[in-house]
Amino acid sequence: MSANAVQSVLDLLKSNEEGSIRRLLDWLRIPSISTDPSYKVECRRAADWAAAHLKESGFKAQVLPTGTGEAPGHPIVLAHSPGSPDYGGPHVLFYGHYDVQPVDPIDLWDSPPFEPVVLEGTPGGPGRRIVARGAVDDKGQVMTFLEAMRAWKETTGEVAGGVKFTVLLEGEEESGSVNLDAFVDAHQDELKRCDVCLISDTGMLGRDRPAITYGVRGLAYTEIVLHGANQDLHSGLWGGRSPNPISELTKVLSQLWDANRRVTIPGFYDSVREIEPAEREAWKKLGINPAEALANIGFPPEADVGEAGYSSTEREWARPTAEINGIVGGYTGKGAKTVIPAYASAKVSFRLVADQDPVKITQAFFEWCKSRTPQGCRWELIDHHGGHPVTCATQSAPLQAAARAMERAAGKRPELIKSGGSIPVAGMLKAKCGLETIFMGFGLEDDRVHSPNEKFEIECFRMGVRSHAILIDELRKMKSRR
Ligand code: BES
Ligand code: MN
Ligand code: MN
Repeated sequence: MSANAVQSVLDLLKSNEEGSIRRLLDWLRIPSISTDPSYKVECRRAADWAAAHLKESGFKAQVLPTGTGEAPGHPIVLAHSPGSPDYGGPHVLFYGHYDVQPVDPIDLWDSPPFEPVVLEGTPGGPGRRIVARGAVDDKGQVMTFLEAMRAWKETTGEVAGGVKFTVLLEGEEESGSVNLDAFVDAHQDELKRCDVCLISDTGMLGRDRPAITYGVRGLAYTEIVLHGANQDLHSGLWGGRSPNPISELTKVLSQLWDANRRVTIPGFYDSVREIEPAEREAWKKLGINPAEALANIGFPPEADVGEAGYSSTEREWARPTAEINGIVGGYTGKGAKTVIPAYASAKVSFRLVADQDPVKITQAFFEWCKSRTPQGCRWELIDHHGGHPVTCATQSAPLQAAARAMERAAGKRPELIKSGGSIPVAGMLKAKCGLETIFMGFGLEDDRVHSPNEKFEIECFRMGVRSHAILIDELRKMKSRR
């Protein structure tokens, strides 16, 4: 194939963009909500859909079960491109997830979440956007890879343009990747043969500010239930002479932070790596404006709160935090009801940074709860899931290839950023298979991930498709005899 193969691929992608978008909309119509068991069949359909797309591009694709007989998980799509005989570049593991977050609160959607629409206009000005659950997290981003593969096959006849890929599409990322550990263990030999992992599930610095993410935070997700009386009580008869689980629970939770907004759990910061001065300087130069970001979500500048001594960016990218994600108890219906409930509960999660261990943090939090057990009450402590933080090598040859590909696609060199979000697979692959990850993502901060009216802008989709297409060209050149 001539040196101009990539140009033909880009031309095809340009003339067929409406086809790429139409296929993405088809995938988005499948409500693959992993956390809700009633969508099991839909998850399977979304996996089959992706496997079929990969097969059309010449990949050998399978849809493999996860979990056990009693506790089955959602399937994983595993696919391969053989690599041309003279390919000498890295064997790349592309990871993405086909599952999506639940849609609630449904009333806040302007159009049904699984009836995707392409609308005019973006918060940044003119341009079109795709609105649907999963538009950017992560089906739309996975699609930028899939469509690039399709175009290379169509143009050159070679699968993935001759580059060697393993593709792993998970169906439980949004519910904590609970069956991924066992899957990675079972396929270790194969995954270890890969040289690097590539993920499109993160964001950019802004429109026209492409970025490669070199680190994500870890996560420890818990639920704590405080049990009081063996029944709900009349608050007139029992108020003032027995503990109220709601007020006792909130009193305990309010102790999670000190006056400097640091987490008070003993040992919480023990293995936290301090930010390198050089990193601090580099982040300052990115010119991120916290007041502007806050304004976009309806906050005044004084809402820039968090751990004392760190900037907003530092707090998001490199400091651990504790959050209450939900809290319920007692009467929450219409009107008034005078009751002291039998129990109250909260979902409490921690974002972690290197070298914190989610298992140890969860244990330390549970110990902290136990040492504060309100008199006469009893805890039920539930460990939901976790994931390790990861910081990636920024100097590797594949990452440089990805940076060049993005530069050629966007006309601008990508900047190196981190993210406060979590993607459990990256830490897992590093620990189990020694793989580094490259996060080449195309989302924007105002894409409303996990929220109503989630969107993916067509410009970002286009940048993603082009980046993946050009990355193939860059990989073909690496150590290759072409
Ligand atoms: N793609 C996101 C994470 C993300 C978003 C990273 C934006 C960087 C920028 C991912 O699907 C996600 O939502 N992860 C969960 C963790 C999971 C264990 C539930 C998260 O971060 O809450
Ligand atoms: Mn995601
Ligand atoms: Mn997500």
